[in-house]
Amino acid sequence: MIEFRSEMRHGPTRETAVAGDSRDRPKPGRGEVLIKLHAAAVNPADFLSENGKNAFVVKTKFPHGSGLCVSGIVVAKGANVTARDLGDAVYGYLPDAVLSTCAAFQPAHAAHVREMPLNADFREAAGLPLVGSAVIQAFGQNGPRAGDRILIHEGGGAVGSFAIQYAKFLGATVFTTTSTENADWVRELGADGILDYQLVDYRDELRDLDMVLDTLGGDATFSAFDVIRPGGAVVSLFGPVDDTAAKQLKLNPLMRQVLWFKGRDLRRKAKEKGARYTFVPMVPDCTHLAIIQELVESGTVRPVVDTASFGPASAMEALAYQGRGRAQGTIVLDFAG
Ligand SMILES: NC(=O)c1ccc[n+]([C@@H]2O[C@H](COP(=O)([O-])OP(=O)(O)OC[C@H]3O[C@@H](n4cnc5c(N)ncnc54)[C@H](OP(=O)(O)O)[C@@H]3O)[C@@H](O)[C@H]2O)c1
Repeated sequence: MIEFRSEMRHGPTRETAVAGDSRDRPKPGRGEVLIKLHAAAVNPADFLSENGKNAFVVKTKFPHGSGLCVSGIVVAKGANVTARDLGDAVYGYLPDAVLSTCAAFQPAHAAHVREMPLNADFREAAGLPLVGSAVIQAFGQNGPRAGDRILIHEGGGAVGSFAIQYAKFLGATVFTTTSTENADWVRELGADGILDYQLVDYRDELRDLDMVLDTLGGDATFSAFDVIRPGGAVVSLFGPVDDTAAKQLKLNPLMRQVLWFKGRDLRRKAKEKGARYTFVPMVPDCTHLAIIQELVESGTVRPVVDTASFGPASAMEALAYQGRGRAQGTIVLDFAG
């Protein structure tokens, strides 16, 4: 654990950003393609891992970069790659990246990338894999189903803006929390009810919901049980890790026990309400790239990208901006400029 944290302080993004294009272009291995990046997403997980804050739940094999989601052009292929061609515009995940995604050339397993949605540009495509997969996985076992009433927190964020549109497509009535500044454009995504968290307390406005998608964690995870109906589902992307997720993350028995103990108040609250609590750790799943492509190409989901402009050399500034938590949609590094 101590070694792990000292690696984190090493700061993979800072190192890669400083080295810039002076690095050798990596060679794609067997089953890999080499992608010349056009864009890379900067997600909250990148900010957390850069600062060692999710070190105890995410197992990482070093050396490892930071950043997960990219888009770009296939410029070389290793042996045994038939699914992709040189010149393909692709998007996907780099779960095993050794370099941070502010390095312009990245080898990727061919199965981890897929052709970009035709109607998305590189910036939009790079913002989709983690966000789309997180929402698909959060909604997977839990709904919402047609007619359900759901609260989605942080409607102006990357996850929230995707989740609102997908929940509407599934036939739900959608309530979302956001600030005054974002209320208008978030409503345009399809939200039926906007709860401006600067003006109202959503707990006074909502009752008997079928589902809450909690992205805030902390007190908000507990408060979700104040607005859920008996039998409803609180699904969190940022709350306490439950035992099913701990097993999925392959945490050791001691860590699982610690998390079990820390989760006791939340389990009590869920039991009192007769509702379910689930933590969802997004796991890269390439079958989701096809679903996301379909959702975007059909116009069901419009990708939302923050307008702040960052190039690869300003990756540290992009991470700091991410850390402030006020982005409108996904923050993206743009390699075109
Ligand atoms: N478990 C997983 O696998 C997984 C996967 C993806 C994301 N996540 C987590 O999910 C969360 C959301 O991710 P994201 O990428 O959507 O983050 P994000 O884009 O950085 O979220 C920023 C947004 O949050 C809004 N916000 C901040 N405080 C708020 C509050 N009190 N109420 C309502 N909105 C608020 C901000 O809106 P205003 O400017 O209007 O305040 C801003 O638009 C993060 O905590 C992330 O770590 C987890």
